[in-house]
Amino acid sequence: MNLFTSSIIIWYKENGRKLPWRGISDPYRIWISEIILQQTRVVQGYDYYLRFIQRFPDVNSLASASEDEVLKYWQGLGYYSRARNLHSAARSIVEQGGFPTTYAAVRALKGVGDYTAAAICSFAYGQPYAVLDGNVFRVLARYFGIDIPIDSTKGKKLFSALSQEMLNATAPALYNQAIMDFGALQCTPASPSCSTCPLIETCVAYRENTTSLLPIKAKKIKVTHRYFQYFFVEQGTHTYLIKRDQKDIWKGLYELPLIETNAPCSLEEILASEAFQTVFPASQIQTIRRIEKDQKHVLTHRVIHADLYKVKVKEEFTLPSPFFRVEIMEVEKYAYPRLLDHFFSLLLAN
Ligand code: ADE
Repeated sequence: MNLFTSSIIIWYKENGRKLPWRGISDPYRIWISEIILQQTRVVQGYDYYLRFIQRFPDVNSLASASEDEVLKYWQGLGYYSRARNLHSAARSIVEQGGFPTTYAAVRALKGVGDYTAAAICSFAYGQPYAVLDGNVFRVLARYFGIDIPIDSTKGKKLFSALSQEMLNATAPALYNQAIMDFGALQCTPASPSCSTCPLIETCVAYRENTTSLLPIKAKKIKVTHRYFQYFFVEQGTHTYLIKRDQKDIWKGLYELPLIETNAPCSLEEILASEAFQTVFPASQIQTIRRIEKDQKHVLTHRVIHADLYKVKVKEEFTLPSPFFRVEIMEVEKYAYPRLLDHFFSLLLAN
């Protein structure tokens, strides 16, 4: 075994985290944990994993649940297509007669990419596939001093081959767990703990003082801004909700009636807009007031700027389908983006 691999395995045995999805071989549970951890840190994902597994302990229970319920268990975790894909893949696993056992068949599941397939196959079946995620890119780029962008075709090929080369083929699960934790705990993105690092002697980035520069990414994420005006309709003990089912963020989740504008808007501008008057005719409104202004919700490629209004409407008013009327007490039964969850807590206080 090379020095790099043996060092991080020794490091892992002393410093690795004990996590509920480690040391198990149930591919279903490993799959769930890896999907949760795709875009979520371990500290955030931990409780979600336990709750999810408690409610959906096996693939049959997940496949037979409704998408609404699965999304409710995912509420707050973000990247909701992960949950929709998980649910749909669970149904196809049941149809196939069980969890797939080859890399190709695991990789073919909805929502499973190279990284997740390698993690599942190595952890569940001991197959020799090296994982390559942000942690691994960083550790390898620094240790070997590689300044080729990790998001270039050349970079992806090179790092993928290097990671595979470092994999200890006799214990792939151990190597994969070790390099992940090493990246998450020791060789961290900002201020890595070089002074206590077992690889300090041979790390190129440490020697050349380039740890803070590596890894290199070529593309900058272009952030767009969107402006959402939300309306909490109060009609006695009822309000209105709508399910997001367009091809857009938060598909499958619920929210309040919304008007999207191109720029920030004042209450006067909203009241004067055709979009608002079409949905809420002036004759039907008793009062309207703004509860929150420019609440920012940051996503990977977008910043949502959201305003929240409370609109009291007359008893005879109705919002047409696809809006639907619910008892305010029942609102918590649906799954929402975190932004809306925050708005509901503001409404309770207002
Ligand atoms: N991040 C992604 N997968 C992980 C795992 N299995 N353990 C810890 N962190 C992870």
